[in-house]
Amino acid sequence: MALKVVVTRRIHTEAVERLRQLFDVVEWESDLPPARAELLDMLNGAAGVLTLLTDRIDGDLLDRVPTLRVVSNLAVGYDNIDVPAATQRGVAVCTTPNVLTRTTAEFTIALLFAVARQIVPGALAARQGDWKTWYPMRFLGRDLLGATIGVVGLGRIGEEVASLAGALGMRVIYTDDRITSQRFQRVALEDLLRESDIVTLHVPLLDSTRGLISDNQLAVMKPDAILLNTARGPVVDTDALLRALERGHLSGVGLDVTDPEPLPADHPLYRFERVTIVPHIASATHATRGKMSALAVENLIAALTGGEPPNCLNPEVLHRG
Ligand code: DGY
Repeated sequence: MALKVVVTRRIHTEAVERLRQLFDVVEWESDLPPARAELLDMLNGAAGVLTLLTDRIDGDLLDRVPTLRVVSNLAVGYDNIDVPAATQRGVAVCTTPNVLTRTTAEFTIALLFAVARQIVPGALAARQGDWKTWYPMRFLGRDLLGATIGVVGLGRIGEEVASLAGALGMRVIYTDDRITSQRFQRVALEDLLRESDIVTLHVPLLDSTRGLISDNQLAVMKPDAILLNTARGPVVDTDALLRALERGHLSGVGLDVTDPEPLPADHPLYRFERVTIVPHIASATHATRGKMSALAVENLIAALTGGEPPNCLNPEVLHRG
């Protein structure tokens, strides 16, 4: 009998078809995530699950689905999964790095331009009939040539952002204890915050990075600095950011990720015209989402058929007798 595999959201058809050739596939056919009870219900008897970053996979869930052997996350980030709990229970955890690096970095630069050049307020004004003439003094932004950009976290995406920013003529500095770059200057976080015209966040969400940017860090930043977050919402303390914005600090903020997420429509962050918020779309191109789906499926198939998944966080569980 074919193994049962669950896909927790509507994803690329080709990817699901590939799974159907080998497994008994149960698909959550909605664009909204299943509730916890629905997820547990679907997972009953499953050997594998293709998850999204909105599915919380913890020890409790894993205990309730003892048949589960692999969790394949359709994301490079995996803060939705308790990896030690999975490892302890012999469950492989796989992710989709690399295929989204360039796309996410390009989006970060797009968000930077949008914020630095007031593209969203300008577009909204035009659409709403608030375009009466050529304005010498409205929608004034800032030039990026020669600006200092501070990259917090020089992993794959951070490094790609650094390269793109360098190619645009920006001075790049970074902070990351794990990485010594030959190309970019490493500084301490506090120096980076003090010196940067733009601060862009590219760290994973860990206990050590939760609330990394809070009152003290925001206070150190230049009053007209731009803050970008395309990493994970909780890396920035939302209340601290609101306090900073309320006292007129920072000239612009670009958020692809927020805390909470999704950000409710009545959230006070939306009150600030200089804050551009988009719904976690940095990897959202047709090609990249297709590659992410294909890789998540490849991971799942390999883990369930005795192969080597291309991206497994705990491959040791696959080789336990
Ligand atoms: C990830 O992959 O972790 C992103 O947040 C979604 O592409």
